[in-house]
Amino acid sequence: MKILVVGNGGREHAMAWKIAQSSYVKQVFVAPGNGGTAVEPKVSNVNIPPIALEQLVDFAQEKKIDCTIIGPEAPLVAGIVDKFRAKGLACFGPDKNAAKIEGSKIFAKSFLERHGIKTASGRAFSDLNAAKKFALRQAYPLVIKADGLAAGKGVVVVPTFSLAKRVLEDFMVQQTLGEAGRSVVIEEYLEGEEVSFIGVVDGEHILPLASARDHKKRDDGERGPNTGGMGAYSPVPGFSPALEQEVLEKVMTRAVQGMQEEGTPFRGFLYAGLMVDKHKVPKVLEFNCRLGDPETQPILMRLRSDWLAVILAALEGRLHKINIEWRKETALGVVVAASGYPESYPTGDVIEGLPERLSEKVKVFHAGTRYEGGQWFTTGGRVLCVTALGDSLGEAHNNAYQALEPIQWKHRYFRRDIGIRGKGEGISGKC
Ligand code: AMP
Ligand code: GLY
Repeated sequence: MKILVVGNGGREHAMAWKIAQSSYVKQVFVAPGNGGTAVEPKVSNVNIPPIALEQLVDFAQEKKIDCTIIGPEAPLVAGIVDKFRAKGLACFGPDKNAAKIEGSKIFAKSFLERHGIKTASGRAFSDLNAAKKFALRQAYPLVIKADGLAAGKGVVVVPTFSLAKRVLEDFMVQQTLGEAGRSVVIEEYLEGEEVSFIGVVDGEHILPLASARDHKKRDDGERGPNTGGMGAYSPVPGFSPALEQEVLEKVMTRAVQGMQEEGTPFRGFLYAGLMVDKHKVPKVLEFNCRLGDPETQPILMRLRSDWLAVILAALEGRLHKINIEWRKETALGVVVAASGYPESYPTGDVIEGLPERLSEKVKVFHAGTRYEGGQWFTTGGRVLCVTALGDSLGEAHNNAYQALEPIQWKHRYFRRDIGIRGKGEGISGKC
């Protein structure tokens, strides 16, 4: 089979790497890919951006691609799956209507309420004065979310009303996020521990993936600005089978049935960002209509089964008939970034020390890299995700940091505490 993966991050490198291992697969194309997918066996890059929907459809038709898998949210929300289907091409991901679960925070909030799924209480506003009046009466900290897609910049936790006012003015009037911030959701701040729970969904059935946790803050000790994710691990200690069952029943099943009932069945990866409180009650912070990055990297490191077979089963509506197997070990990925990320950062640095050969227990997934003339260069904020397996979280941590150390470039930056036990690790401290 010939497979096309759309995207250029670590998540797409991990998918392409895993899919290339499938015995069904002759070739994997990645559009546009990165310096890692450029050199992966059986994988080649195609110079088409993820949002160039028509060009991607044309490429898939011309190359007779058997199945296309979409990584990032932007093309999904723009309706890429609808365009592929209209031409009779197999494409895995939610269609435009179902992708609204991520594309509109206002839709997601009212959907959660309609289907009795626990979430932070919140209200939607498109009028600045009404939003300010509401914010004045709330307890702080408070959370303000831009309605539309904002590349990780659309959620702000504000400690005071005067800051809330400023963010509302920036989003709704100055339109610092463009159209995405013209309407907002203002919601209650939830405390607890965050877990990413991702299911593969075929419209009706859910195949849960292993639990994962990502570290969203840029700096050690959960400080600094929010990022796309600075590291992740799987499984999450303390994410018990009972808690998994609760999430499956009270969050995932309700969401999948709700989408079906509303005439917009969800097919694709459904990612619930959860806050688990001290009573172990999970509440939904957000839904994403795709896999998480960097969660995918440790999750796929642990997967023993054929990843393409899972996706094909989902496309054919038979997820309830398959089982997947996981390695028992923990996998942990450390994102190595360019200093200055997520604001401005230099690019074009030469990356030295990338290992030629790695053990089966370590994999360097690329994100913001380019391969040219036998060398790798940095091209983005999140550059690599060095991922390792270990018999415990601590061992996976040590293995990942040991593998990372020789890999150098001028403006290298990474957190040193990914997966370290302490605040934010484990659920309610019980592992
Ligand atoms: P989201 O894109 O909605 O997941 O928000 C990004 C990050 O903001 C989340 O991963 C949380 O760390 C934080 N966040 C979002 N909503 C809330 C909330 N209601 N309470 C506390 N933190 C939140
Ligand atoms: N790691 C968070 C996300 O992919 O949204």
